[in-house]
Order: sequence, then structure tokens, then C-alpha cells
Amino acid sequence: MKNVLVTGACGQLGSELSLVLEKMTGTENLVISDICRPPAHLSHLQFLMLDILDEQAVKQVIEEHSINVIFHLAAMLSATGEHRPRQAWTLNMEGLINVLDAARTHKVDKVFWPSSIAAFGSHTQLDKTPQHTIMDPETIYGISKLSGELWCKYYVDRFAIDVRSIRFPGLISYKSPPGGGTTDYAVAIFHQALKGEDFECFLGENTRLPMMYMPDAVEAIFKLMQAPKESISVRSYNLAAFSVTPGELTLAIQKHFPHFSTRYNPDFRDLIAKTWPSTIDDSVARNDWGWQPQYELSEVVNDMVTNLRMTIDD
Ligand SMILES: NC(=O)c1ccc[n+]([C@@H]2O[C@H](COP(=O)([O-])OP(=O)(O)OC[C@H]3O[C@@H](n4cnc5c(N)ncnc54)[C@H](O)[C@@H]3O)[C@@H](O)[C@H]2O)c1
Repeated sequence: MKNVLVTGACGQLGSELSLVLEKMTGTENLVISDICRPPAHLSHLQFLMLDILDEQAVKQVIEEHSINVIFHLAAMLSATGEHRPRQAWTLNMEGLINVLDAARTHKVDKVFWPSSIAAFGSHTQLDKTPQHTIMDPETIYGISKLSGELWCKYYVDRFAIDVRSIRFPGLISYKSPPGGGTTDYAVAIFHQALKGEDFECFLGENTRLPMMYMPDAVEAIFKLMQAPKESISVRSYNLAAFSVTPGELTLAIQKHFPHFSTRYNPDFRDLIAKTWPSTIDDSVARNDWGWQPQYELSEVVNDMVTNLRMTIDD
């Protein structure tokens, strides 16, 4: 990777990915961008205000900085998207097409774009969801992810752009807050426990979803981007680490905070979650580029609690 651009870099995934990218590319070869100011821990990086919907501005940045690789992360997530479906569609689709088209015209080497388990739907086999299966998403976010996967494949087939993608499960992290998704509860629950308060969960106690710890997600992106072209057999890979229900996560947190408890008050996000896989078959990613997660639930809980405690103590 020579000159790298990250869009949506101030979000939950971008703010962590950017710091790891910096180690690989050097600070001078990394340009991060967003429509909001970067958090303090990214303030030493080259930052540009870049609205991904501004097609000309996207092309100009790629040209001026001789960008070879793009990590396109700017998006509107599932729960927020249900409140603003037109804007979610525009941002998620037009933004992606702007990036793909700029990559084509400026001969960018590689593009990474995250898809999501939201691309599946209620007729999908929700247990051990296979790589190739029925996909009938019911949220505008999921519709935009499935359509985005098809756009990426189209650009690969038609214009030979090397676009690579992962269908991420819910991401758990302590460094940056989540951005309005259906799996956000799995981060918020830790913050409540650390404050010594009980948690009100917007999912039902037994709603099982696949999750992944942020270091594994970042590692997966690098592994995929570094894999030789010949080993890539699909464009949007299923990926799994562990699956958990709010009830099980509460029990795991109670090992650290015995008095912690969760009340369940499921809302529309529980209905969304019930159309998403509970477990994922990621054997294609394992076979193609050696995917292997490092963090199971208990390790994630230990690490989250340790790191959030340090953040509070600081
Ligand atoms: N976080 C997860 O659990 C998860 C799971 C699966 C897939 N993903 C995908 O990963 C990507 C990043 O997700 P995230 O969790 O970091 O999201 P986030 O909401 O935390 O961050 C998105 C960023 O995009 C920026 N943005 C919004 N509109 C923009 C615009 N017009 N131009 C430029 N930037 C704009 C926002 O300011 C924000 O910083 C998304 O494509 C998301 O769908 C995330």
C-alpha cells in the first residue's frame, strides 16, 4: 500500500483502522477524511473534510494525493437508516458509486468496502448462514449493502477494479462509540456496567447475533487486502468470530460486576435483528485467505472491562 485514503475515518471502524494503517503506510502516505472533525487520537494524521457525495471532490482528493488504495467506510448504519431511509440510500449508494467510479478513472489499485450481515434477510438460512444463499434484506441499510455488493462485483467484472469486501457482524470496541447500528447494545452494555448502573437493552434477552472484536475486524481487513489476487474467489466474504445473546453477554459481564443486571425492552431493532443470521459459515474466508479470529466472548469481555477501566481511571 502506497498512498491510502480512508473515508468515514472518524467513525467506529475508521478511527481504529486508521491508526493501524498509519503504522503500515507511514503518516505521510495516509489521508483520512470525514464530514466531522477527527477525535483527538487522530489529530496528528493528515485530515480532509470530504463529503463522499461530492463526486468532484472525491476525484480531486484521489488525484492530488496520488491515492492507490481506498478504504471506503462512510455510511449510515441500520437503526439510523430506518429513521432516514432516503438519506441512507443516497449516502450508502451514491457514496459507494462515487468511490468506485473515481477508482476506475484514476486507476486506483484496490478498494476496500465493508458489507454487513444486514445484507441477509428473513428467508436466509439464519443458522450457519452460507456464503451463497437467499438474500432478502428488510432494512434500507441491508438493501444498500446487498446492492453495494452487486455494484462492487460489477466494477470488478466490467472494469477490473480490485474491490474487496467483508460482510461484518456487529463490531465491539472500547476506543470509539458505535454509530447507530442494531448491534450497538453490545458496546453500550459495557459502559453501563462500568458506571455501576443497570442496562436497558433494546434487543430481547435471547436474540442471538454474530459479533466480532475490533482488533479481529481490523486484522481481517489487512489479511483480505494483502491476499494474492488469485486466492480471492468471492468479492464480499462472510466472516465470523462468535455469536452471543444479550442474556449471555450480561452473564459474562456479571463475572466482573456481580450486581450488574439487564432489563429487556425490545424495540424495532429487535425485529431487525431477527432477520439477521445468528451464526455465520465463514469457511470460504478461512480457505481463501486464512481467516482465523483471535477473540472469543470471554476474551472480549476481559479486554473491554480492562481497557474501559483504564479509560475511566485516566
Ligand atoms: N460498526 C459495525 O458494527 C459495522 C458492522 C458491519 C458493517 N459496518 C460497516 O463499516 C463501515 C463503517 O462503520 P462504522 O461503524 O465505523 O460507522 P460510523 O457511523 O461509526 O461511521 C461512519 C462515518 O461516516 C461519516 N460520514 C457520514 N456521512 C458522510 C459523508 N457524506 N461523507 C463522508 N463521511 C460521512 C460519519 O461522520 C462517520 O464518522 C460502514 O460501511 C458500516 O456499514 C459496520
